[in-house]
Amino acid sequence: MSNPFELLRTEMDELVIGHSDVKTALLLGIISREHIYIQGPPGTAKTMLSEIVSKSAELSFFFYQMHRDTRLSELVGDLVISREDTEGGEIIRQNIIKGGILTSEICLLDDISRAPGESLNVLLRILNERKYGDEEIPLLTAIATSNPTADEYYNEPLDPANLDRFVIQINSNGLSYSREWEDVKKIVNLYSAKNTSNGHVERIGKDVLDKSYQQLEKIIVPSEVQDGLISFISWLIEDQRLNESNSVISDRTFLVKSIKIIKASAVLAGRSEANLEDLKALKYILAFRVPEEVLKIAEEKLESIQSQKKKTKK
Ligand SMILES: Nc1ncnc2c1ncn2[C@@H]1O[C@H](COP(=O)(O)OP(=O)(O)OP(=O)(O)O)[C@@H](O)[C@H]1O
Ligand SMILES: [Mg+2]
Repeated sequence: MSNPFELLRTEMDELVIGHSDVKTALLLGIISREHIYIQGPPGTAKTMLSEIVSKSAELSFFFYQMHRDTRLSELVGDLVISREDTEGGEIIRQNIIKGGILTSEICLLDDISRAPGESLNVLLRILNERKYGDEEIPLLTAIATSNPTADEYYNEPLDPANLDRFVIQINSNGLSYSREWEDVKKIVNLYSAKNTSNGHVERIGKDVLDKSYQQLEKIIVPSEVQDGLISFISWLIEDQRLNESNSVISDRTFLVKSIKIIKASAVLAGRSEANLEDLKALKYILAFRVPEEVLKIAEEKLESIQSQKKKTKK
């Protein structure tokens, strides 16, 4: 069978022009079942790409537009009040009928930075533990989007501890401001030719995700890839002088989750063993954990670790 994720990628490419990194980040997120945070200016197809993924994987989907008064109950289902007359008087109960993030497999939380702190903290705890009370929830991946934080967007940045709940982090940029003129031309062309109702999305189905997750758990990570990961982390700390005040290099993310992302990259490439090429996927965990200047050179560093090791092997 051909690689189902290639099919999904082709589908994304047909409907959304450019944004290659955001597409890869979304694929790595659903393969590894980790949460994804996409930050970018309005109208850069963040919502559209997330919808394509959830449709294609045929997952039960929950979409929620966060706002300044978002209450937790709106995210976890419907509150129902029941009254019962008893001899001792009236008993009023408040129950929830579970819904929202408690019953969906994939959810899109749009504009997450608009939500008020008290709802956000509980939400992020549920996302992190994948449990509500003692019960496990079926959620595979939450995709949160946010506009860049700035006064004119009426939002506040998520604090670093909350952001760390999203293993995959990516910046999405407008194509015009990025001067991607070839892509700009393609979009104008696409919409000039487009007849309406062209939203059909090819299905890869949920089975594919279950199978690929079993595959992911069996991926072998050879010692040279492990060494590459360690040398990257030490480059961040020793050479780039990152510390607790200018970055979030948590052991959870960099020593544990990062390996899952390396494995997801191997699955995406259709391999059963990780190799040095997969180290490049580490750039998808960096966006809001390291300063912008480091983010800019990290990709090169990951490339160079890869090519150095390859040379020494020969
Ligand atoms: N790169 C692109 N390729 C194809 N269509 C695009 C692209 N960028 C924007 N569009 C069009 O613009 C619309 C707006 O995109 P979308 O609503 O997904 O943006 P968004 O990033 O979620 O915006 P917001 O931050 O306001 O929620 C899309 O539905 C699509 O029609
Ligand atoms: Mg949107």
